[in-house]
Amino acid sequence: MARRRPKAPGMDHFLYRNGMLCAEDVPLADIAASVGTPFYVYSTATLVRHFRLFDEALSGMPHLVCYAMKAASNQAILKTLAAEGAGMDVVSGGEYARAKAAGVPGDRIVFSGVGKTADEIALALGGGIRQFNVESEPEMQVLSRVASQMGVTAPITIRVNPDVDAKTHAKIATGKSENKFGIPISRAREVYAMAAGLPGIKVIGIDVHIGSQLTDLAPFELAYQKVAELTEQLRADGHEITRLDLGGGLGIPYARSNEAPPLPADYGALIDRTVGHLGCEIEIEPGRLIAGNAGLLVTQVIYVKQGEDRQFLILDAAMNDLIRPAMYEAHHDIVPVIEAAPGTEAVPYDIVGPVCESGDTFAKGRHMAPLAAGDLVAFRSAGAYGAVMSSEYNSRPLIPEVLVKGDQYAVIRPRPTFDEMINRDTIPDWL
Ligand code: LLP
Repeated sequence: MARRRPKAPGMDHFLYRNGMLCAEDVPLADIAASVGTPFYVYSTATLVRHFRLFDEALSGMPHLVCYAMKAASNQAILKTLAAEGAGMDVVSGGEYARAKAAGVPGDRIVFSGVGKTADEIALALGGGIRQFNVESEPEMQVLSRVASQMGVTAPITIRVNPDVDAKTHAKIATGKSENKFGIPISRAREVYAMAAGLPGIKVIGIDVHIGSQLTDLAPFELAYQKVAELTEQLRADGHEITRLDLGGGLGIPYARSNEAPPLPADYGALIDRTVGHLGCEIEIEPGRLIAGNAGLLVTQVIYVKQGEDRQFLILDAAMNDLIRPAMYEAHHDIVPVIEAAPGTEAVPYDIVGPVCESGDTFAKGRHMAPLAAGDLVAFRSAGAYGAVMSSEYNSRPLIPEVLVKGDQYAVIRPRPTFDEMINRDTIPDWL
């Protein structure tokens, strides 16, 4: 019997009703008919549900859940989460501006990132900021200078690199000493001492983030224990440590049939166990777990092509729309929008896009009920690091984003016309 997981992050609001895959109460085929394919679609109910799982998981401690908006940054998504009380974790001037445009107050925005420029720092200081998560000594000096010039004091944490193996894909692990992120924890006391002597900044805490798509809690436990020890040491050195930013990274089930990553509630209990006794305000920065299973990529089969020894399903979505399979060998469940009749025998397909690269392959030998040109399929778990990582490669316009709430839906980013796309080029007058 299947294990019942009532608070599982894999639960979403994309279900079949009368054989038709729906986003909440809206059949995806209806959206496809009105906006065309491919498109991204998000469920408000799933976004909210996942935010609340974290908020509840930390309810025993003073806390702020700062959504890592790099995962999915459409302003309609930000507004949805901000209305629930979410803060935002931003990593660029553009993200800061987007969060502000969506109405998020500066005192709920934390600024992370390994290469903040003086201009980005000034933008955030001017518009209001909860804290900067500083990642290096040179950055700290720039922050000190810019804040002093502006006559303000910037609250900071210092991101430490705990040298912990997150046991995730190498491209998204950040907590080992060979990674570019944070200050080696072994040098932390020295760097905090330096921070205490600089004008324009005030140390308030510690920041750590060890990687993304973690499917085991053990690396978090190791990292947070190190942060707890460091907190005691820094306090003994005379620093006021009142806030701990524990980063993001909790993984989601991508292959639903056989993955069951830890639950936010267990993650919350781990946080309480490792750092709860310190009396600090806790921040976390989840991105993927909030947005990932709240979004689908819906696409249409253009052709079914018979190869030498295999069948290719050629879709109208490509690697420029969803790069995760090409970039991280990521698995996404792919399901038909019209449910196959029970008992239909599945056949293997290589599922590809139209882009001129062999890397434009979403899945090999994937078993699906037989499909034909014109059929719609949906990529699950595409809400995080989907639309935000898309590009116009092969001059394919960015695809629309749609937000569903109950029986309503709205296009939250329209598909540009070819003219809108190509008219952004400017031709030098000497040509
Ligand atoms: N905080 C910081 C400082 C981060 O660098 C990240 C993600 C997060 C929070 C959010 O992590 P999450 O909860 O989403 O795991 N494009 C890759 C993922 C890159 C993650 C980058 N940093 C992918 O598609 O798998």
